Amino acid sequence: MSALYDVRPGVRDFTAYVAGLSIDEIRQKYGLSRIIKLASNENPLGVPPLVQKVLRERAAEAFRYPRLGNPELNARIAAHLGVGPERIIAGNGSDELIDLLVRIKARPGQDNVVAFTPCFSMYGMCSRMLGVEFRQAPLRADFTFPFDDLIDTCDENTALVFVTSPDNPSGYAATAEELADLARRLPERALLVIDEAYVEFADDPAKRSLLSRLDEFPNVALTRTFSKAFGLAGLRLGYGVLPAWLAEIARPCQMPFSVNLLATYAGMAALDDTVFLQETLRITREGREWLTRELTRLSCEPAPSQSSFIMFRPPARPGLDARGVFEALLTRGIIVRHLGGFGLADRLRVTVGTRRENETFIAALAEVLHG
Ligand SMILES: Cc1ncc(COP(=O)(O)O)c(C=O)c1O
Repeated sequence: MSALYDVRPGVRDFTAYVAGLSIDEIRQKYGLSRIIKLASNENPLGVPPLVQKVLRERAAEAFRYPRLGNPELNARIAAHLGVGPERIIAGNGSDELIDLLVRIKARPGQDNVVAFTPCFSMYGMCSRMLGVEFRQAPLRADFTFPFDDLIDTCDENTALVFVTSPDNPSGYAATAEELADLARRLPERALLVIDEAYVEFADDPAKRSLLSRLDEFPNVALTRTFSKAFGLAGLRLGYGVLPAWLAEIARPCQMPFSVNLLATYAGMAALDDTVFLQETLRITREGREWLTRELTRLSCEPAPSQSSFIMFRPPARPGLDARGVFEALLTRGIIVRHLGGFGLADRLRVTVGTRRENETFIAALAEVLHG
């Protein structure tokens, strides 16, 4: 075979990211008119009204490049969080920050990246794509974090340690004190990256995050997103809260203009729309409590969640496993996530929706399970 077709080792067999099914896919497949998508942890209330207004007003500016490095957006995010703007790097979804951190910190063929298993797939994807070893320590059976095992998985070549808190798919969240203790105990080279994509939904986010104590920890970075609590998944906007020394190194390494102009305006408007954020948090926390109760009533073993979704295990029924429940829900126009891709073939994950979506989901699930 011609050398033309040679690519980097491991790349040809690369496993693609698995996304939740789309509404169009299911509409076509089952010929349904009404679909409820509770598969990708998108915001139940849609796009903040203030963002919609700003996007309409600013659409005609999209022929211009945005300002390099979007300093105005970074400053607004920093003010929103109460940290210095020198720490903030916005990106094309927090996925871009995960990738950027791996690329600037890990040495291919030499370093390793450590996370729990199961975990969000991007940490492994970005590491493997770069030729960096990806190591995983199992979560406990109840999905809590065995930090001692995580530390034992590290060595002097551990470049990054990813912890998702609240976790995906379980919804479990560590306390800030536990995370601080982990940060103190990691090997010297390792950067602790805490993926806080869902932290806003926790009952008390301040008790779950090291955000207000970052000055104590030059080895801790946080990643956050506008895709969930702020309703902008389709515009792709996330950010890192990095130690200042690392942000300074990372900034020149980022793709130019990876945050598009409209996403810049949308992000600032989303921060301004505090009514939308409060309503999102209220609906999600109330819905989470209601769904947890209802799933328990249906013998589905929901995991306690601090996030915008609930992982659950449907009861064993002859001839009906979790995948069967997932497919039966699809035929009724409800998309949830089967967790086979996370190595949890007996579990499903449902995003907390609006009250009506939650009720429709529970009614359909009751029908599937109990006839
Ligand atoms: C744990 C976790 N981190 C990061 C992301 C990526 O979010 P973004 O849309 O900001 O790239 C997701 C998306 O589902 C997620 O679940």
